[in-house]
Amino acid sequence: MEGAYERVVELAKRRGFFWQAYEIYGGVGGLYVMGPLGVSMKNKIVELWRSMFVRKHGFVEVDAPSLGPYRVFKASGHVDNFMDPVAECLRCGRKFRADHLLAESGVRAGEGAPVEELERLLNGNRVRCPECGASEWRVSRFLTMFETRIGPYSEDVGFLRPETAQGIFTEFRRIYEVTRERLPLGVAQIGRGFRNEISPRQAMIRLREFNMMELEFFMDPEAGCPYMDEVAGDVLPILTEEVAERGGEDVIEVSARDAVERGIVRNACLAYFMALSARFVESLGVPRSHQRFHGKPARERAHYSAQTFDHEVDVPGLGWLEVAGLAYRTDYDLRSHSEASGKDLSVSVRLPEPELVRRTRWRVSSMEELRRAAGDRWKDVMRIISSSEDPAREIAALGLRMEDLPLVREEIVEKVNVRRFYPHVVEPSYGIERLMVASLSWAYGMREGRVILSLPPRVAPVQVAVFPLVSRDGLDDVARRIASELSRSFDVMYDDDGSIGRRYARADEIGVPFAVTVDYETLSDGTVTIRHRDTWEQERVGEGELARRLAELLGVGGPARSPARSGPRSR
Ligand code: GLY
Repeated sequence: MEGAYERVVELAKRRGFFWQAYEIYGGVGGLYVMGPLGVSMKNKIVELWRSMFVRKHGFVEVDAPSLGPYRVFKASGHVDNFMDPVAECLRCGRKFRADHLLAESGVRAGEGAPVEELERLLNGNRVRCPECGASEWRVSRFLTMFETRIGPYSEDVGFLRPETAQGIFTEFRRIYEVTRERLPLGVAQIGRGFRNEISPRQAMIRLREFNMMELEFFMDPEAGCPYMDEVAGDVLPILTEEVAERGGEDVIEVSARDAVERGIVRNACLAYFMALSARFVESLGVPRSHQRFHGKPARERAHYSAQTFDHEVDVPGLGWLEVAGLAYRTDYDLRSHSEASGKDLSVSVRLPEPELVRRTRWRVSSMEELRRAAGDRWKDVMRIISSSEDPAREIAALGLRMEDLPLVREEIVEKVNVRRFYPHVVEPSYGIERLMVASLSWAYGMREGRVILSLPPRVAPVQVAVFPLVSRDGLDDVARRIASELSRSFDVMYDDDGSIGRRYARADEIGVPFAVTVDYETLSDGTVTIRHRDTWEQERVGEGELARRLAELLGVGGPARSPARSGPRSR
């Protein structure tokens, strides 16, 4: 008997949510196609996320390139850190992800374990090669960014972005200016991410190209979280870093506010976005009782993160699946890009009271000498020393040496009205395909031997089906007209093929929440039936009322609603 997850994947492929790409050539691991229903569902998930994470707070969205030059990903730390451990079988040469190979053999090695430890564990436990059965391994680090060339010159190395976030950090200065230089500032980006996974397996879970929704929330680290009161009492199910470090699974339930006050979550805005994330995932149909926030021990965290919680969902037949990462990135990214580019990405805020501060000032002892030593770069030197206390790196970036310039260092005490700092960043980051898998899996149920996909109406790819009871006597003409009118406001499917029972079944299987049927009564009194997918109950409404009633049932235009859990579910 195939498992719950395999049934979802089979349905997704058969009805056109998603399937492996390049099937006619045998398929390529980690590359998937979203079909017509998949694209529609993806768009709805994106819209729901935008409404909850972006519009609600007055945040902004940008769209930066997927491809970036070497120096961006060198500065971001990805070139040196974005690696997975690869185990090579010394007999057949096949390669596998070392930590996954160990986990499948029942040997625990946390993410981020050093390659020497992984090699010792693989060889010491005589883990067999799944391909040839040998048990001798060499483990090394494998860069999981896709490398390419930008333009015709081999030295112009570029990478496909592994996260959309870098396209926000590199553009921060301009985004901050065009949004009138205010903190906190949320900047969202929705787009493709690329990771050259060593051995992608489970369908739609470990992808080499995937859709991300990321929010970089820039804030003053000395300010509190302006949104905390809204979620203070929301209960967060947390697997703490300490428990995770010991390999434990016990989850504590703690309110968002208590999680901050007890130091379990180190930043109040991080706790806020965790609470919002739980609400969001709940509105995709995953009960809170099947969600958890998995605190990542230091060595399992990405290089930029001071604290990370993976938002995980218990997917039937699959187990815990990470659908989002929520990270406190501190000022790591803006600071790194400032230092590497020589462009100042810090901001200033006005102080309530002026303060006396000691600082270093640089003065030019002779303009004539500066012009002689720096040539036409003398203006750049003036700009740099007027804005930096430690200008050596930026001066060097001009190709000049401090000791060759007539610069005098002075220590002064100054009254200042502003404080300069790099904004700190909290980041919630989602994988859309994984959200889709979680939502589809929780929606999948059976009734009277038939599949019913009880998707929350807000994310159902088709919102309304329109059927003529029979396709004759003008019922089909009326049904087509109604479908056409409704399609101005909803995603509508018209179907007149086969018995009405089969059409309901086809619609239930892809999660259409409401089906409108045109029958002989429609011709005499202008009423139609609305059939509810989850209860199979029907109500009769006048044609003139239909669009308003459907909007009410679908919850469109209103706040995000939790799905009714009383549907025809059985597992
Ligand atoms: N930006 C988060 C991640 O790459 O996982």
